[in-house]
Amino acid sequence: MPVKVKPWLENTEGYQPRSYTRIRARLDLNESPYPPPERVVEAVAREAARGNRYPEQEQLQRLLELLSGYTGAAPEQIVVGLGGDMVLEKAFTLVLGPGGRAAYPWPSFSMYEVYTRQNGGEPATVELRPEGDRWKLDWPRFSETAERAQIAAIDNPNNPTGSLIVPGEDELAELLERLGKRGVLLILDEAYYEFSGVTYSGLTESYDNLLVVRTLSKAFSLAGLRIGYALAHPRLAGMLCSLMPPFLPRTSIAAAIAALEEPSYAEKVVEAIRGEREWLAAQLRRLPGVRVYSSHTNFLLVETRVDNVVDRLAERGVAVRRVPLGSNWLRVTVGTPAENRVLVEALAEVISSLE
Ligand SMILES: Cc1ncc(COP(=O)(O)O)c(C=O)c1O
Repeated sequence: MPVKVKPWLENTEGYQPRSYTRIRARLDLNESPYPPPERVVEAVAREAARGNRYPEQEQLQRLLELLSGYTGAAPEQIVVGLGGDMVLEKAFTLVLGPGGRAAYPWPSFSMYEVYTRQNGGEPATVELRPEGDRWKLDWPRFSETAERAQIAAIDNPNNPTGSLIVPGEDELAELLERLGKRGVLLILDEAYYEFSGVTYSGLTESYDNLLVVRTLSKAFSLAGLRIGYALAHPRLAGMLCSLMPPFLPRTSIAAAIAALEEPSYAEKVVEAIRGEREWLAAQLRRLPGVRVYSSHTNFLLVETRVDNVVDRLAERGVAVRRVPLGSNWLRVTVGTPAENRVLVEALAEVISSLE
């Protein structure tokens, strides 16, 4: 008899590695299409040669100093993990127990549900609504829902819509105030910060119930090396730290150090992706029946009139991501100019084959 797993696991996709053997354009995971700079590759190779040793304290300290310089937060406000994912997972574990509620928008980053269920919690979602070419969060409704939860999470910009959904700093501060009175943790997921340019991380100094999550997976081209971090009040950062594993791979720490020593590389990646994103959005909007939402990220949310559009594109060698809005929707990562052209041509073919 197969092992009886928790029932929710049978309906949850999570993120599983997939094969890309027949894929010409890999545009499904919001990665950077550009490899990390040479200095990162060299640093990883150097550390691989020392792979018999656990990382030294000085290595992590150097990373914290660089992240402190990059973010403006003090080193004791920073917690580093294997991707933003691990930081998120531990944050949910920190506060959520069986029967507890987790408030977050729908749709949003799919792992929020996994981390909620994993802790025996219940999702309390608030639907985003399209308004013109962006998506909006009903802020008063979200605030009420969050007040009745143990944890609230907002991805800003939101994945998969690409929209900024926090109305502003004053509204966020007011929500933190209300949540603080009830001991509710708010996670503000700024995984796409480098593309949006919008951050509220400064509020972590005044609010010890705010955890801002960031990653080096996107703009810094390090998705495969798995470094993410949280910014929080030193009290909250300390509690989160106590749940983290004792060591991260020394190759990953070294990659992050080398990447942060040359932040101009990430700036160039962001500039290139923003330019390509606008080109891609304009090309896609020219196709019949296609609607493209405006984006503050490295991906676009696209609505088509084609059922199972993700499978139709995969048949043509283009990997894009399913979104829970329907089988005629897709989320596409902005790739290299060549990959973006492959996508536009493939979608044009799919659409014309149905007309
Ligand atoms: C909103 C959001 N948060 C967090 C992550 C986690 O990224 P990583 O674990 O690679 O840092 C992602 C990745 O796609 C994301 O879209």
